[in-house]
Amino acid sequence: MIDHRRLRVALLGAGSVGAQVANLLLTQASELAERAGADLELAGIAVRDVDAPRDIDLPRDLLTTDAESLIVGADIVIELMGGIEPARTHILAALNSGADVVTGNKALLATHGAEIFDAADQLGASVSYEAAVAAAIPIIRPLKDSLAGDRIRRIFGIVNGSTNFILDKMDREGLSAAEAQRIATELGYLEADPTLDLEGYDAAQKAAILASLAFHTHVSLDDVHREGIENITADMIDGARRAGFTIKLLAVCERLDEDGAEAISVRVYPALISRDHPLASVHGGNNAVFVEAQAAGDLMFYGAGAGGLQTASAVLGDVVSAARRHIAGGVGVGESPRQSLPTASIGRIHTRYQVTLEVADEPGVLARIAGIVSEGGVSVATVEQSPSSDAQGRAHIVIGTHRAREQALSDTVARLAASDVVERVVSVLRVEGE
Ligand code: NDP
Ligand code: HSE
Repeated sequence: MIDHRRLRVALLGAGSVGAQVANLLLTQASELAERAGADLELAGIAVRDVDAPRDIDLPRDLLTTDAESLIVGADIVIELMGGIEPARTHILAALNSGADVVTGNKALLATHGAEIFDAADQLGASVSYEAAVAAAIPIIRPLKDSLAGDRIRRIFGIVNGSTNFILDKMDREGLSAAEAQRIATELGYLEADPTLDLEGYDAAQKAAILASLAFHTHVSLDDVHREGIENITADMIDGARRAGFTIKLLAVCERLDEDGAEAISVRVYPALISRDHPLASVHGGNNAVFVEAQAAGDLMFYGAGAGGLQTASAVLGDVVSAARRHIAGGVGVGESPRQSLPTASIGRIHTRYQVTLEVADEPGVLARIAGIVSEGGVSVATVEQSPSSDAQGRAHIVIGTHRAREQALSDTVARLAASDVVERVVSVLRVEGE
């Protein structure tokens, strides 16, 4: 039953996601009112340019460039502008004026999350951000609420839709990276600054948010080891396919326990995944996140990881919850960053690796390489040799390792690169999911 209270909703941004949110708020107003328990009145939409062309026609009289005035008197502020400023200032102003905030801004939360959550705690307001990680997939609320009584050991998966789309198109359709990126842009998957996706920043921001929730520790972007897909070539994808792998940009958040000292590792990098692994079947702009919890066991979350309409679903879910909370009163479920676990350097992780070397195709070369690898304390699992397609008289040697410590592996690769038998280190890729 609606109490016919009217909650004023201020929307900041009408881009890929914001325009869809506005459209749903306007066209599904009565259903949303039933669920929220109050009418949700879209008071206005702040944009940079009210005359900019939009995918969806929005009432001209709702558009404004004056975000500050729009926030005053709002009960719920939805921030979908992206970026750090002025989004940060607007969110803090909204909290200070008594509004609950809904945002999809992972860039902001991964860098200024502590400041924003502290402000919300002090003011008794809520900040909801389901859309910030893996777009349409409900993953924030499960980590924050449903798994609050469990102990999470590891989170592992694909959290960036656009890079998954690009790698998938290269792998399955042989498209160039540039062509695949062009289509991803048309679909609204990429950030306004696409280097955020391509260089792994977007995935690292999401990994920081997931790790903060999972390990009850403030994890910021600076704590995340980050590598993007900008150096992944069509040759690397072909080589991976021939060896039974595909390449995915992965986020890994895990607890490490070395001699009783607990730490966490949070990292993002392209890695080889067996084509039999469920993550290899995550195609297009989809995301998938595996959560390994002590009591619950293994959980898997899968769905659309990018896209305006899909992301709008997560935003509206948060808006309905914020409306209910606003009516019922009381504080929302806040953050619980009380464990303060230290972040381990990338050198401390253990995984498998595949190292591709270009060498002279001569007797004794393989034995020398095997010697260097074994002296480095890295155990070889497989070795394959094939003639180099680039240079005559050269061969490519692909070494698959057993699980090794990253520091030992990188020291070994440095010794291989400096040796007189290796012409070039073609690639070093981690092998995950085994
Ligand atoms: P867009 O770049 O498509 O849209 C941004 C909107 O914000 C535009 O309407 C723009 O106005 C407005 N805007 C930007 N800066 C200002 C400013 N200084 N003052 C007023 N308005 C401003 O972004 P998206 O919709 O793609 O993303 C929005 C947020 O959602 C981001 O934080 C993003 O990371 C996140 N997100 C996006 C997903 C996606 O698939 N796109 C998925 C999950 C999260 P104008 O239109 O006039 O230029
Ligand atoms: N640019 C982001 C991605 C949007 O590609 O995953 C969803 O957060």
